[in-house]
Amino acid sequence: MAGKEDEFDSPQNPDNRIELERQAADAEHKAEILAHPPTGPDGQPLPQPPKETRVVRDRKGRREVVEVPSTGHSWDGIMEYDNPLPRWWLWTFYATVVFAIGYVIAYPAIPLWNSVTQGVLGYSARTEVAAEIERVDTQNTEIRDRLLATPLEEVAADPELASYAANAGGAIFRTWCAQCHGAGAAGTRGYPNLLDNDWLWGGSIEDIHQTIAHGIRDPQDGETRYSEMPRFGTDEMLDKTQIDQVVQQVLALGGLPHDAGLAAEGATVFADNCAACHAEDGKGDREQGAPDLTDAVWLYGSSAADIRRIVHDGPFGVMPAWAGRLSDADVRAVTSYVHSLGGGE
Ligand code: HEC
Ligand code: HEC
Repeated sequence: MAGKEDEFDSPQNPDNRIELERQAADAEHKAEILAHPPTGPDGQPLPQPPKETRVVRDRKGRREVVEVPSTGHSWDGIMEYDNPLPRWWLWTFYATVVFAIGYVIAYPAIPLWNSVTQGVLGYSARTEVAAEIERVDTQNTEIRDRLLATPLEEVAADPELASYAANAGGAIFRTWCAQCHGAGAAGTRGYPNLLDNDWLWGGSIEDIHQTIAHGIRDPQDGETRYSEMPRFGTDEMLDKTQIDQVVQQVLALGGLPHDAGLAAEGATVFADNCAACHAEDGKGDREQGAPDLTDAVWLYGSSAADIRRIVHDGPFGVMPAWAGRLSDADVRAVTSYVHSLGGGE
């Protein structure tokens, strides 16, 4: 112990000198202030900061000013007083406690292992939503029945049905179709644009209905639209030169820049291998979903590389069937919606 004191407090230790001198000066200063309390310019002692007080009323309602005890906590000279909580706050707090207890008793509240306490009111958000869906369904039963009974071509002529089909069909489209065809139905590579007049499988409302209900190349639907463009390269039906030639011929048919020499050779390859589906003039065949190659609309792209890939690997666009997934009325509503988009025939 002695050694320690030597070390930190001893006046002999030169390191302690400044600190000890400062302590001595402080003590001196304090004694000075106590002996002569500071006074204002008028010679009067400076006012002391007021003690914290509080107005209370005694039992008889008399006003009384009492001094507030301090908790004894002080931070940088800021005292913590022992004031009672404000009444309004306290009562609000009690009210929330009472409300919480009532709520836990009345409503589903406490999570259990794999359920939840049910509450005496038997309320459930799930039942409420189910009831709401049921209500809207019943409300729409009449119009849905009418949509089912009306021939598709006549839907547009009936303003009420047309507006229902536009709204319900639009909602169905945004939910189930937009992922592939785009929110505005403009499509993207491999997924056809449904706004234009160019139809792979036909643009009459009956054609569209058939496409949507049964899909295209959907292996799960027995009535699906089906055709298969051969994989000319992968299956070695054409050699590399023939593919180069026919690609140039396709570009020529589409009115795109091409090599005329290769295209002339390609015309023969086309007639032998492609015309059966895309027709002699390349205008396609809706019975087989074979696109028109002479228009400006390209499902898979119009560069020589895109076309070579299609001829080499074969396209195999799949459109799911919706008959089992959506109700008949919903399929009809979305059919009517797609038909009304502008390209319907
Ligand atoms: C998984 C992607 C996908 C979804 C989802 C999808 N489609 Fe398609 N749809 C396609 C593809 C791919 C084709 C083109 C198939 C082909 O190459 O013949 C197509 C073709 C069509 C066609 C025929 C276009 C034509 O030119 O003949 C219609 C109409 C159509 N879809 C409507 C819909 C509707 C309505 C929905 C929603 C209920 C929908 N599709 C959902 C991928 C999809
Ligand atoms: C059995 C019928 C069939 C034959 C034969 C056939 N096609 Fe196709 N072709 C199709 C079908 C169907 C599609 C669209 C397929 C799809 O969307 O999945 C298509 C698509 C294409 C496309 C894409 C068009 C676009 O809009 O992007 C090109 C290019 C094409 N065929 C070129 C050819 C050439 C060249 C040949 C001959 C070497 C050929 N096809 C032979 C049925 C055929």
